[in-house]
Amino acid sequence: MKKPLHFLTLYDLPPSELNALVLRAIELKKRHKSGLEDLPLKGKVLAMIFELNSTRTRVAFETGIQQLGGHAIYLSAQDSQLGRGEPIADTARVLSEMVDLVVIRAKDHQYVCEFSKYSRIPVINGMTNMSHPCQILADIQTYTEIRGSIHGKKVAFIGDGYNMCNSYIRAAKQFDFALSIATPISHKPNQKLLSAVDQAIWTDNPEEAVASADLVVTDVWSSMGHEEEGNERLASFDGFQVDSELLDRANKDVIFMHCLPAHRGEEISNDLLDDTRSVVWQEAGNRLHSQKALMELLLK
Ligand code: CP
Repeated sequence: MKKPLHFLTLYDLPPSELNALVLRAIELKKRHKSGLEDLPLKGKVLAMIFELNSTRTRVAFETGIQQLGGHAIYLSAQDSQLGRGEPIADTARVLSEMVDLVVIRAKDHQYVCEFSKYSRIPVINGMTNMSHPCQILADIQTYTEIRGSIHGKKVAFIGDGYNMCNSYIRAAKQFDFALSIATPISHKPNQKLLSAVDQAIWTDNPEEAVASADLVVTDVWSSMGHEEEGNERLASFDGFQVDSELLDRANKDVIFMHCLPAHRGEEISNDLLDDTRSVVWQEAGNRLHSQKALMELLLK
């Protein structure tokens, strides 16, 4: 039996397919907004296993599969046997008998890897402690819609070297843009990942990172699972807030993205989402279209 194509990180698809996926997302969005119906996933069922909260990822997958003609089943730990200790491998085998596609949001990336090892249907990473590849698809779609191809551009990531930052490192390689990362020394991104990507560099100076950037990105300082470190993190990230003055140091036509939810007054200034350079609502909306393109690709 043919092995399913999983999407656990951006390295699971070659650059040509990632670029085609972004263009398809833009096309699907245009077609949907024109009132055209695309039902390539008619009768297909998506299982959604979420260990952590979600608004955008969950709504985009549920709405997306419905718009493509299929259905979604949401499984939280509380209302499935996973919460009572049924092994991941057994759950993967069972769901492979019943549904066509699975998206998993897990605290530990190994959970998703373990599931995909035993799954005979495609598995999508809906965010883990290691990466958030679906968010990157929406971000690249948004940049492409507003400014054209991101190839050869400069992106600055400011803040926590956690899952979004790690995914941006992979994105720099796959979409071939220059990535300048500014984090405190105590919260650097994954060093093995970083050292393998020529396009990405690290500094502890946000002003240096944003110089001549075409896109500036940040994420919360206390990701899910790190909330209890809140006060300690506020101190560690002092000086890493993105505000309009920091954006003024970037390229004239810079745009700003944030995967959301945002903590105003922490990683961004209170008014940054209202800055004319912020494109966060378009970015959030594009989760729907890019995830539709992803599901279509994986079930082709
Ligand atoms: N950006 C993002 O993944 O949002 P949710 O946590 O709401 O899914």
